[in-house]
Amino acid sequence: MKVGIIGSGGREHAICENLKKSDKIDNLFCFPGNAGTSSIAENVSLDLENFEMLKNFILNNKIDLIIVGPEKPLVDGLVDYLEKYKIKVFGPNKISSQLEGSKIFTKELCKKYNIPTAKFGTFNKKADAKRFLEESNYPIVIKANNLASGKGVYISQNKIEGFLAVDEIFNGKFGIANNILIEEYLNGEEMSFFTVHDGVNFKYFGSAQDHKRVLEGDKGKNTGGMGAYSPSRLINDKLKKKIINKIIKPTLKGLNELGSKYKGFLYTGLMIVKGEPFLIEYNVRMGDPECQTILPKLKTDIVDIFLACCEEKLDEIEIKWSSKKSLCIVICSNGYPDNFKKNIEIENLDKITVQKDNYLFHAGTIKKDNKYYSIGGRVLNFVSMSDEFFTARANIFKKLKKLNWKNGFYRKDIGYKVIDK
Ligand code: AMP
Ligand code: GLY
Repeated sequence: MKVGIIGSGGREHAICENLKKSDKIDNLFCFPGNAGTSSIAENVSLDLENFEMLKNFILNNKIDLIIVGPEKPLVDGLVDYLEKYKIKVFGPNKISSQLEGSKIFTKELCKKYNIPTAKFGTFNKKADAKRFLEESNYPIVIKANNLASGKGVYISQNKIEGFLAVDEIFNGKFGIANNILIEEYLNGEEMSFFTVHDGVNFKYFGSAQDHKRVLEGDKGKNTGGMGAYSPSRLINDKLKKKIINKIIKPTLKGLNELGSKYKGFLYTGLMIVKGEPFLIEYNVRMGDPECQTILPKLKTDIVDIFLACCEEKLDEIEIKWSSKKSLCIVICSNGYPDNFKKNIEIENLDKITVQKDNYLFHAGTIKKDNKYYSIGGRVLNFVSMSDEFFTARANIFKKLKKLNWKNGFYRKDIGYKVIDK
């Protein structure tokens, strides 16, 4: 089989590595991929906004299956477009992708189907939002409605911070803003919960905890994710049932009533408050770096899962997992998530070897003349699986010492809640 993966991050490299393990795979294509995927797939540099060019490449090269990694092409309707040409594609359609593309869409769905989430209001005028903030309790959460790579969320401690957030969002910091969301601050512990869907059936696809803040102790600015561990320390069967019955099933019902089905990965971002799950956000894809953390635990052939999802046969498959614990540390360019330099050589990368239960997934890297260079904020992901989180993290530290990349940094406390108790 020929399979194509859309995206260029650590998530897509992890998906590629996992696909490569299947004896059903003949060729892999990555659109556009990174230095890591270039050694196991053909990297194809195409304008991903140009659906027609992408479709032509897929048809000309007889690619049997497309996996869409990131949210942007999903929200833009790539799945709907490719399916018109009878291309098999794993990922949700445009209607369902609004779960991530529009926070207000999701909040309205929550209201209609009684899904537990923070109380909220939407505002389309600066003055109205500020008037509301005059009379609110703090902290309070202020969010841009559109896609903002995890950065359009402010937790404001007082009115002054709140006003600043409203001004920044309406002044276009995250793109054109016609409205904003102001919501109650939920005080609990976060958890990421994953499911995989075929439009009719769905199955659990692991849990994780990611560390979104740039500094140790979960402080500083929000990032795309500095590291993660799986499973989450909060997950148990009772909580899993509550999440499925109170949050996921009513969401699918809501989508069905809009005439849509959900196919692909669904990432449910939750706040667990005194054992009760509240929906914070949906993402219509796997998380990054949660994907890199979870996929090494998967024992079932991932090609079978993707195909079953495209053929509405997920109920015929049993998804099996390793019981080991998995941890991922992300290495970033100095300066991230603000300004960072690009095209910096990662000198020792070719000296790093990984064996059984240890993985190195590339993100913002390219290879030129047999040398590796960083081209993104998040550059590399080191993952290790072990019976204990402590050992997994210690295994990664050994590799990082060897890498000794002076232009990058990482958080040394990933997994502190399950390790440094
Ligand atoms: P989001 O992009 O909606 O996931 O928000 C980014 C981060 O902001 C989340 O991962 C939480 O840490 C935090 N956050 C979002 N909404 C709330 C809320 N209502 N209460 C507390 N924290 C929140
Ligand atoms: N790790 C957070 C995300 O993928 O959105």
